[in-house]
Amino acid sequence: MINNNFATDKYRVAAPRYTSYPTVPFWDVQSFDRSEWINKLITASENSKEGLSLYIHLPYCESLCTYCGCNTRITKNHGVEIPYITALLKEWEIYRSHIGFSPVIKEIHLGGGTPTFFSPRNLELLINGLVAPSDLHDDAVFSIEGHPNNTTEEHLALLYKLGFRRLSLGIQDFDRKVQIIINRIQTYKSVEVITKKAREIGYQSINYDLIYGLPLQSLNGLNKTIQSVLKLKPDRIAFYSYAHVPWIKPGQRKYSEDELPSAEMKKCLYDMGRSMLIVGGYSEIGMDHFVLRTDSLYIAELNGRLHRNFMGYTEQFSSVLVGLGVSSISDCWTAFAQNVKDVEEYISIVNKGELPITKGHILNDSDLIIRKHILNLMCKGYTSWRKVDEMDEKVEEGIERMKWLAHDGLVMLSEYDVRVTEYGKRFLRNICMAFDARLWANVPNNQLFSLAD
Ligand SMILES: C[S@@+](CC[C@H](N)C(=O)[O-])C[C@H]1O[C@@H](n2cnc3c(N)ncnc32)[C@H](O)[C@@H]1O
Repeated sequence: MINNNFATDKYRVAAPRYTSYPTVPFWDVQSFDRSEWINKLITASENSKEGLSLYIHLPYCESLCTYCGCNTRITKNHGVEIPYITALLKEWEIYRSHIGFSPVIKEIHLGGGTPTFFSPRNLELLINGLVAPSDLHDDAVFSIEGHPNNTTEEHLALLYKLGFRRLSLGIQDFDRKVQIIINRIQTYKSVEVITKKAREIGYQSINYDLIYGLPLQSLNGLNKTIQSVLKLKPDRIAFYSYAHVPWIKPGQRKYSEDELPSAEMKKCLYDMGRSMLIVGGYSEIGMDHFVLRTDSLYIAELNGRLHRNFMGYTEQFSSVLVGLGVSSISDCWTAFAQNVKDVEEYISIVNKGELPITKGHILNDSDLIIRKHILNLMCKGYTSWRKVDEMDEKVEEGIERMKWLAHDGLVMLSEYDVRVTEYGKRFLRNICMAFDARLWANVPNNQLFSLAD
């Protein structure tokens, strides 16, 4: 008999979100060699039949949302738009000159920061500049993250004309007192207007980002937020766990830790939110994501095509993801590279005609095997090691750790495979962590679960 309350407390340890394996803190940056990265990128681009994904990081925001963990630059000076776009297009040109041809584009995602900080006209310059030298895949997908306070009808109409069909709006919480403490005031009305307008124009998928665990969040407040969200019925909802990292993001020091919900309350917030969304007609996909059954992410999960990369869950599998802009990460399947985080440094390196890479990681054979298992668990809740190339000593060590999770009912473990149980879904990060050989090698005292329980 499994004691679920016991397991819930026990697995409350910090665990990565696994948008990559190895995770960035455990990249072997000492052994990273730029020319090896470029060679691997060239080979992967030549071999990629499906075309590549482009992630563009647009870091500017007009004001600081104090909870935000993303790489942002706060300014009200819109004179920064053109120099930054010029650098992005230059960086894309440098990539293309390294690859030696213009690859087919399968996906473009504009993330931030606040992409809608940029004027519609400047976003048009950017997209046209990215797309002009390349062919577009027949099923190319364009998506953008927008802030409800500055996403205009003009943005929506022009982006639609350029091929955008997906819009993601940052909501976080509608509760006024939470909005005040995180310095992010936006009304239900503005979100309603943008959502309706986007639908009228023809956008096919609208996502809302929500967060549980924010300062001053309460069950009552989050309940009202989710009721409001359910009225607007976005196609997708990302329901993220608040990441508190004040040593990296000093903005989070604007509130005290006493104002954050306790671990017990955070769990109650998640449980309440999750059940409201499920009763409201959403299906839980992988981790943190809830989708309507009409949404392509749901269909992708049903067909076993769900994929995960630095942008999160996607149904677009592409072995080459090129990240342009400050702090963006590129992935050519056998290697990762990350750009510098500072805007001025980024612009100056690119203007010299160089790739603005600051660090990277070349995946070895064992990384590739483990990456496959972690991706399987994150996207399918299942992985197996029947074939020789799915097993090595690191996987064996992972299976040993997995036995603890099986004992607590989080997974069903057999000789050749492991399946996440319904109950184990909420502990997907801990389950993947069992296989995370780089983490265990670097932090041998790391804990898969809390020894205090
Ligand atoms: C860079 S933000 C883009 C938001 C969008 N541009 C806007 O301003 O509305 C991407 C998403 O990351 C999530 N996020 C940011 N900081 C976070 C944190 N500390 N913990 C959990 N999620 C966070 C938020 O849900 C946010 O909407």
